[in-house]
Amino acid sequence: MPSAKPSAISRLSRPAFADPATASLDLHVLDQDKCEDWLANAPSETGNWARTNGFRGAIGQVLVIPDRDGAPRQVLVGYGTAKDRARGRFILAGALSALPGATYRLVEGIAEEDRPAECLGWLLAQYRFDRYKSGRVSETHLIAPEGVDTARIEACAAGEYLTRDLINTPASDMGPQDLQEATQALADRYGAALDVVADEDLLTQNFPMIHTVGRASDRRPRLLDMRWGNTGPKLTLVGKGVCFDTGGLNLKPGSSMALMKKDMGGAANVLGLAEMIMALQLSLQLRVLIPAVENSVSANAFRPGDVLTARNGLTVEINNTDAEGRLVLADALSYAAEDAPDLLISMATLTGAARVAVGPDLAPFYTDSDSDADALSAAAAASADPVWRMPFHAPYETMIEPLIADLDNAPSGGFAGSITAALFLRRFANGSRYMHFDIYGWTPTAAPARPKGGALQGARALLDALPTMLNL
Ligand code: BES
Ligand code: MN
Ligand code: ZN
Repeated sequence: MPSAKPSAISRLSRPAFADPATASLDLHVLDQDKCEDWLANAPSETGNWARTNGFRGAIGQVLVIPDRDGAPRQVLVGYGTAKDRARGRFILAGALSALPGATYRLVEGIAEEDRPAECLGWLLAQYRFDRYKSGRVSETHLIAPEGVDTARIEACAAGEYLTRDLINTPASDMGPQDLQEATQALADRYGAALDVVADEDLLTQNFPMIHTVGRASDRRPRLLDMRWGNTGPKLTLVGKGVCFDTGGLNLKPGSSMALMKKDMGGAANVLGLAEMIMALQLSLQLRVLIPAVENSVSANAFRPGDVLTARNGLTVEINNTDAEGRLVLADALSYAAEDAPDLLISMATLTGAARVAVGPDLAPFYTDSDSDADALSAAAAASADPVWRMPFHAPYETMIEPLIADLDNAPSGGFAGSITAALFLRRFANGSRYMHFDIYGWTPTAAPARPKGGALQGARALLDALPTMLNL
């Protein structure tokens, strides 16, 4: 019998920098504009070797300089021009696959302010989703340069690995129960407490919409409630945990359903952020709420035209069973608001409209607070995790008000689909200071340090913005 594969949370190795005492190869990163001068000042055999091989410092170019035995003596990596670098992020990571297996020491060429992001990129580039493949262990290690906060970067990488693993794991191994187990494992690692309301208890404890959306699946719906930390401001994260989204009776066409294992991307992102917060021991009271369900098709599935009553008493007319994320989030947000958090944040792969508006690289977010938006945008730029503010545009409130209920889960016309979904959610935040992310959660085309697959979006920007937003 084949040995059991490790589950999503129990990776065999966690991202880490190499021990500074390890034997290492010198890595010189060369700006294209400075490359010629550098080579002119280098020993003549180095300059000749570079010219022979056409090395000119272009982005991602790698040149191994051999010693007399032909063994690598040092390695040059092209860093392009500032203009080239502005077109992407994690530039150094883009060269990783071309480097010979070794432990590297970064000797020069990356400005101090860019070092943390470039070092993080190195760890993120080592990510492999190898749960179902015999593992190829990365042989390319980095000794962190002086002055970078290695614990912070390793925590960021560990959080992002978790997020990616959770999303990449197919729905067959990542149902509501599996998501619960992954959350339990994370809670155990950091001494957090996990409370679960499952199945029929969702009805007796008044989470009617979570139950309704999840009731058609044999893999029973549940609400995960993790708490950690007992001093400081209260931060509550709510993540959409739709483990698979068929669309329900408004069944998605095959092409739209293909990627829907990632519909728990919001949950995966808040768990990744929670790991970073707990690993770095931020002084706050963290709570993570995840409605974990599968949006399935069955005779007992909820129907178009049904009217549901939410936890907070608002009624919702179902005009499309494929607009399920806002329903399960609504009950979780109401519950979160009852506890009066200082800051309430939701993350969800909520609408196709968000993907159309900003594409997969930007994390669109909503907030009524200009200062929170500014703090987040500044943190995003500094942490190589781009975000884009979207408006809670009040004149569109009428679009989510249908004929016979308080709210419409799928306004006809589809205008401003991401905005109307955000306005819907805000009705359940009950006046809490609220921020919402409508993320894509997936990298469709591999980029440096970002392999194709599950993606962390906005979580690292949040981590960096929290001290400002919450006065930590
Ligand atoms: N999970 C989807 C949204 C989604 C689709 C995110 C593709 C990323 C990529 C969500 O549950 C959904 O189906 N939303 C509908 C809402 C509509 C019926 C009002 C959508 O966006 O089409
Ligand atoms: Mn859907
Ligand atoms: Zn969905």
